[in-house]
Amino acid sequence: MTQNAVTRAVVIGTGHYLPARVVPNAEFAATLDTSDEWIVSRSGIERRHFAAEDEHTSHLATHAARAALANAGIPVESLDAIIVATSTPDLTFPSVATMVQAQLGMTGGFAFDVQAVCAGFVYGLANANALIVAGTARRVMVIGAETFSRIMDWTDRSTCVLFGDGAGAVILEAQPGSGTSQDRGILSIDLHSDGRHKDVLFVDGGVSSTGTAGHLRMLGKEVFRHAIEKLAKTADAALQKAGLEADAVDWIVPHQANLRIIRGTAQKLGLTMDKVIVTVADHGNTSAASIPLALSVGVAEGKIKPGDIVVTEAIGGGLAWGAVVLRW
Ligand code: UT7
Repeated sequence: MTQNAVTRAVVIGTGHYLPARVVPNAEFAATLDTSDEWIVSRSGIERRHFAAEDEHTSHLATHAARAALANAGIPVESLDAIIVATSTPDLTFPSVATMVQAQLGMTGGFAFDVQAVCAGFVYGLANANALIVAGTARRVMVIGAETFSRIMDWTDRSTCVLFGDGAGAVILEAQPGSGTSQDRGILSIDLHSDGRHKDVLFVDGGVSSTGTAGHLRMLGKEVFRHAIEKLAKTADAALQKAGLEADAVDWIVPHQANLRIIRGTAQKLGLTMDKVIVTVADHGNTSAASIPLALSVGVAEGKIKPGDIVVTEAIGGGLAWGAVVLRW
């Protein structure tokens, strides 16, 4: 080890889970003034998965967690921490993460949730990295898991056709690095929020206000306007912090909200779509689950390989947004 030796949070496993029920766009056209053509052309979404009534966010998360443990080839007892990024917890408390901990039979370590809506997984990675770099934990599982179907207003065609349910998980492990961008693991993080934009994307219920779970409300055009500009900027900032140029990027793994946003962001970064993992057609917008789902699918399809430079970027309610650059 050199004098500049650092600890890096390196991905050693990924996994995902999608509920069995697949809902094609045509199903909405039966009850709403909408069409497959409108949904595909405006969002790129063709279908999404919805959880069964007795299937909760923690159940989706646990399936994804088991898949990631199998992929990493490690026993659950070797995890030090579980972080779940979600805005749709089973209960107000305890955290989904502690429920997953119990469902996995893990009796040691610690677990907690992170709530940054669609940017939740990026925030989760940042938390895991901090725990690993500080020496607080050696192996951390970060899960994004959501059941957004539970907070849809089924009479609002401008939102209910866009979201889906699912979960994805990655396991990060402390490994020594040299402190350069040649290291594997998380290389840089760029996080932002601006609470002045609350009204463009929120849920109109909650524990201390209405006492109900509420329904998602979104001014789509406004969010869209913020998205491309802020996503390209945060990805660019994270690359700069890592000391990398855009041409070093092997894969962009964006939050999967809208194909037009994904395309626009890639274009602003000067990257072609063959460098972007896209799952939005099959998953819809699964909020905090969308990036780990796309990472796991990208690995399973043989696209993302060890040594690749991967950029994840997301924006959502808050507004909260950010990017993480890592070498796989
Ligand atoms: O994950 C968190 C971040 N979220 C996002 O990134 C979402 C960002 N926003 C978007 O993805 C897009 O703004 C949407 C997909 C939500 C909407 O696309 P848009 O091109 O911005 O359409 P729009 O909201 O301007 O609506 C255009 C028209 C409107 O009709 P008028 O006013 O032009 O007559 C809407 O009423 O489309 C109408 N419309 C629909 N028509 C058929 C809205 N929803 C539907 C629908 N089917 N489902």
